[in-house]
Amino acid sequence: MELGYLAVFLTLLLPISCASYTSLENKFKECMLTQLDGSSESIEKITFIPSSPQYPQVLDLLEQNPRWVNSSSRKPLLILTPFHESEIQAAILCSKELGLQLRVRSGGHDYEGLSYLSKVPFVMVDLINIRSIEINLADETAWVQAGASLGELYYKISKVSKVHGFPAGTCPSIGVGGHISGGGQGMMMRKHGLAADHVVDAYLIDSNGKIHDRKSMGEDVFWAIRGGSATSFGVILAWKIRLVRVPPVVTGFNVHRTLKEGASNLIHTWQYIAHELDEDLLIRVIAQNSGDKSKTFGATFNSIFLGGIDKLIPLMNESFPELGLQAEDCTEMSWIQSVLFIAGYKKDDPPELLLDRITTFKSSFKAKSDFVKEPVPKSALEGAWEKLLEEETLAMLILEPYGGRMDEISESEIPFPHRKGNLYNIQYLIKWEVNSEEASRRHLHWAKMVYKYMTPYVSKSPRAAYFNYKDLDLGKNKNENTSYSKASVWGEKYFKGNFRRLAQIKTKFDPQNFFRNEQSIPLLNSNHS
Ligand SMILES: Cc1cc2nc3c(=O)[nH]c(=O)nc-3n(C[C@H](O)[C@H](O)[C@H](O)COP(=O)(O)OP(=O)(O)OC[C@H]3O[C@@H](n4cnc5c(N)ncnc54)[C@H](O)[C@@H]3O)c2cc1C
Ligand SMILES: *[C@@H]1O[C@H](CO)[C@@H](O)[C@H](O)[C@H]1NC(C)=O
Ligand SMILES: *[C@@H]1O[C@H](CO)[C@@H](O)[C@H](O)[C@H]1NC(C)=O
Ligand SMILES: *[C@@H]1O[C@H](CO)[C@@H](O)[C@H](O)[C@H]1NC(C)=O
Repeated sequence: MELGYLAVFLTLLLPISCASYTSLENKFKECMLTQLDGSSESIEKITFIPSSPQYPQVLDLLEQNPRWVNSSSRKPLLILTPFHESEIQAAILCSKELGLQLRVRSGGHDYEGLSYLSKVPFVMVDLINIRSIEINLADETAWVQAGASLGELYYKISKVSKVHGFPAGTCPSIGVGGHISGGGQGMMMRKHGLAADHVVDAYLIDSNGKIHDRKSMGEDVFWAIRGGSATSFGVILAWKIRLVRVPPVVTGFNVHRTLKEGASNLIHTWQYIAHELDEDLLIRVIAQNSGDKSKTFGATFNSIFLGGIDKLIPLMNESFPELGLQAEDCTEMSWIQSVLFIAGYKKDDPPELLLDRITTFKSSFKAKSDFVKEPVPKSALEGAWEKLLEEETLAMLILEPYGGRMDEISESEIPFPHRKGNLYNIQYLIKWEVNSEEASRRHLHWAKMVYKYMTPYVSKSPRAAYFNYKDLDLGKNKNENTSYSKASVWGEKYFKGNFRRLAQIKTKFDPQNFFRNEQSIPLLNSNHS
């Protein structure tokens, strides 16, 4: 006890040159001290090693998918929570020097935990303290630091304008760092496209610790980081985004239908209509089981219309009369209230709820994704509902319609290639509360099974997938020398014809492949396998 205390005391006080550090952790801190020319106290303040009492709390806070049992061997050697960009620059240089990998976490929503888990020794840089947002209404842009959440961004926008918004994801706790790097789809994508379509500048730190803006990184790298896995190229410090105009009144509705009420027919019909609707209207479908032993099926048509009820009702009567939407089903609200509504809150709940950094209903989950180009036959949809009913835990298919603005942007405008010709995106999602290896194995198996079942009905060669719904079943890099051709197996699913250009840019910008993970962009000419 006393000795332990003394040891800590000495480490803190001894001048760095005298201390004989043995562990990697200490070597890392020593390197940080040299790099930053700072005090050891300021470094201790932002550094958490596994033996620090706060380490589990800092690690778990933003770990949005607690699916990994027995993950102790995959946890970070050291967590840094920098306040200043110089600390990130130093962390990059020190990781490189000590042969450690570096993982960055913004919101921690990575579906496969790649921001906070790795099988090789690594340092995690958690951007929880790098999250300021500066809105410039005069030119309708904002600088958003990577660690800010979508909820913080939406909230901040609403505080300065009732007629501006931003088209990005539906879950407020998502971090802008990861989200925009992978695309970012949400309830306004039919009108405005993806979050990544609205980036006009960025600050990125490269593997030499140099900070770039759009001009100094060049148009190639600027192209790559907007949807092409920014984490393969560097650490995003901030995005400069273009805001969009929203009307003062928008309308939301949730229409539930059971099988008896004709859910299958309605969803079948929806497939022909949803991508062709007025682009102010996005109706997504959440088809799910009851998540319990009663094993019932239900579908929710979940929608936001960028306008009032008086316009929506005739529009629906004309284009999707089968749903029988009535004015009573609809609620008018402001855009920020619609963000609450879609996130599962009530429109009159305090918008401050959007500032919560932890995802609502946090639980273990596995997801996979597909794109649909031809309507799926009704019998095949019914087969999918049967698969949902094989599970007693919550399982769902989320169908998000494309079309509108998504059709107008070319496949190579940014790395996200899923544009014209896609009717909708499917996300298969299964969630469970009590985690164990057995439960995990069973549910992962379910996800693979339903994915296999859908093979004939979804996009082919490649069978496309959405990068933000990361899925390591598609394939993964074995090590830093994974070849381009091996990585193409998963890479072309996410990025189609853009994958090669991503690898070319990667090879030039990060030739040592310092920034890597299980699904990072590989080097092009790696002659190893
Ligand atoms: C509950 C939930 C709801 C979701 N809803 C949607 C949705 O509506 N629409 C949608 O498109 N997606 C959605 N997603 C997916 C989400 O967009 C991705 O998981 C996204 O990558 C999360 O970003 P993050 O910063 O929160 O995650 P993190 O886990 O922090 O990061 C994800 C990846 O990006 C890297 N990264 C993070 N920050 C940086 C940075 N600053 N610089 C470089 N690399 C970085 C990480 O290392 C990791 O590889 C949802 C996810 C969850 C869990
Ligand atoms: C994982 O942890 C559980 C509970 O601690 C244990 O029973 C099991 O043997 C572990 N499995 C592995 C592969 O380590
Ligand atoms: C719906 O359209 C039909 C015929 O096109 C019309 O008779 C009916 O009044 C419309 N209902 C509403 C609510 O607009
Ligand atoms: C990758 O290639 C480099 C350079 O040839 C080599 O030094 C390194 O050991 C390789 N790594 C692995 C894991 O094979």
